[in-house]
Amino acid sequence: MWCSGCHLEDGSGLPSAVPDLRDTLGYLISKQGGRGYLVRVPGSSGTPLDNLELAKVINWLLEEFNSETLPSNYTPMTSDEVGESRNKILMDPLKFRASLIKK
Ligand code: HEC
Repeated sequence: MWCSGCHLEDGSGLPSAVPDLRDTLGYLISKQGGRGYLVRVPGSSGTPLDNLELAKVINWLLEEFNSETLPSNYTPMTSDEVGESRNKILMDPLKFRASLIKK
């Protein structure tokens, strides 16, 4: 898969270098701008996958690894939503993430 080179097959990542994609993403998408963030991180936005495929990968991550933390109003991402966020370049992902958590 396009993402597992860094995030590993089970989403666990590499402590301190590549974030764990399990359990925290549901929390992040409950924040304003959080859904876009998942698309805008360089690993997502720069993938060769098209918008529909990327939406499916992110929905799979959310439903498979983050079902415990998904907000009750969760709806899957659409390819249009991915397309819109994808073009907004995220200069500093870690700083943006920190600002999301504070909201
Ligand atoms: C080259 C290594 C690499 C690849 C390939 C990669 N990522 Fe990442 N990903 C990272 C790193 C490093 C971060 C931390 C933010 C940053 O510095 O970009 C990250 C952050 C993330 C985050 C935010 C997690 C958080 O808790 O903040 C998501 C979601 C994500 N990646 C999804 C994906 C998806 C989906 C793919 C495949 C389409 C992918 N990544 C491919 C390295 C990668």
